[in-house]
Amino acid sequence: MAEALRVGLAGLGTVGAGVVRLLDANAALIERRAGRPIEVVAVSARDRSKDRGVDLSRFAWIDDTAALAAHADIDVVVELVGGADGPALTLARMALGGGRALVTANKAMLAHHGLELAGLAEERGAALKFEAAVAGGIPVIKGLREGAAANALSRVSGILNGTCNFILSKMESEGRDFAEVLAEAQALGFAEADPTFDIDGIDAAHKLAILASLSFGTRPAFADVAAEGIRHVLGADVAEAAALGHRVRLVGIAEAGPNGLFQRVHPHLVPLDHPLAHVTGSTNAVVAEGDFVGRLLFQGAGAGAGPTASAVVADLIDIARGLAGAPFAMPAAMLSEAHPADTGERRGRAYLRFTVQDRVGVLAEIAAAMRDAGVSIESLIQRGVSADGHALVAIVTHDGPERCVAQALERLRGSQSLAGQPLWMPILA
Ligand SMILES: NC(=O)c1ccc[n+]([C@@H]2O[C@H](COP(=O)([O-])OP(=O)(O)OC[C@H]3O[C@@H](n4cnc5c(N)ncnc54)[C@H](OP(=O)(O)O)[C@@H]3O)[C@@H](O)[C@H]2O)c1
Repeated sequence: MAEALRVGLAGLGTVGAGVVRLLDANAALIERRAGRPIEVVAVSARDRSKDRGVDLSRFAWIDDTAALAAHADIDVVVELVGGADGPALTLARMALGGGRALVTANKAMLAHHGLELAGLAEERGAALKFEAAVAGGIPVIKGLREGAAANALSRVSGILNGTCNFILSKMESEGRDFAEVLAEAQALGFAEADPTFDIDGIDAAHKLAILASLSFGTRPAFADVAAEGIRHVLGADVAEAAALGHRVRLVGIAEAGPNGLFQRVHPHLVPLDHPLAHVTGSTNAVVAEGDFVGRLLFQGAGAGAGPTASAVVADLIDIARGLAGAPFAMPAAMLSEAHPADTGERRGRAYLRFTVQDRVGVLAEIAAAMRDAGVSIESLIQRGVSADGHALVAIVTHDGPERCVAQALERLRGSQSLAGQPLWMPILA
């Protein structure tokens, strides 16, 4: 029998314990598929005494997580600690630097340090694999890096954060407001106690930076991803979108064009005839458009112990089979530096919502700001007056440059007619 692939596992939380469970449950099947057994030999986390619902007594316990990288009996280090820097990055650098393969689910680390780690992996001839880092159990990294490798991709977009999609879906189906649904999601364990990374679009931006690099052959550039989350979306916006035949979704979009690389995570109005409109609850989905293959849709569970462990172990099976490949689909030295595209030149239709004082002249003021900035209005609706004397004005614009909409909003800044910040959402084409 071929020798086992020996794994050192750092991090025994949701995903780490899931990996142990999966390797136990499907050991025989995995061995037949991989051509050799895959065995955890050593593990590391912070608290040795914590009950994780799996038997860890058969593995060596390593107190110093970084020491896993130098453990003589390990072929592959699996990093499931998390965090862009700190112990995860130290472990990754040490493992790859020592010529050991690394499997990670850590999108934050890859979005910030992916280029360095890919370069190190290539230099040392070590595999670096991260299927679980984007969209959990969905094999989208493999799909883009291998399945779509022959295509020039024009656009990759997706619903990349299950927490936001869960919240927006509930706001729609139950007609409730953001804060209320977030509190419920936290109570149910669908949202973190500190949900900032999720609801402010940072987590989705990490994933988008990785997808853009894979899709367009550019260096991962997290700093160039514009991220806006969902905390300013009202229940009324979701209802208005529905009345217009759309759903509100937090969508990440990356496009490579003659003006540079566009990368943005933002709440969008998604028309019902677009596949992303039908992605509900905590599901994730990615749409990629290739010149020969056409539109590809990847959809499934974007998080959770089982789906994420499935992706981690798929990477281990590839390594056991001897399949490595360039981490970002081409050698790190071939990845180009992309210039961020000027978003002002981007065209499209948009939804604008203003919370306004209920008094004469307000609509005329908004309409004048639009006209002066060159924004053409397709529809304008004013909805009832709330107890505090505010009304809601929802506008859909005709197709036009985003620069004009930004100018119109700038003209209205500080207006006494407005109560609070207006909300702008692009309409996905
Ligand atoms: N959860 C998901 O559904 C999901 C989906 C896709 C990707 N990911 C990614 O997978 C990774 C792990 O996520 P998770 O949800 O499993 O996290 P988690 O439940 O918080 O587990 C983190 C693990 O890392 C250990 N750890 C934390 N700090 C450490 C340190 N300084 N030294 C040693 N060990 C340390 C913890 O030890 P103790 O248990 O002893 O405290 C814990 O076992 C993250 O990069 C995350 O972004 C998660």
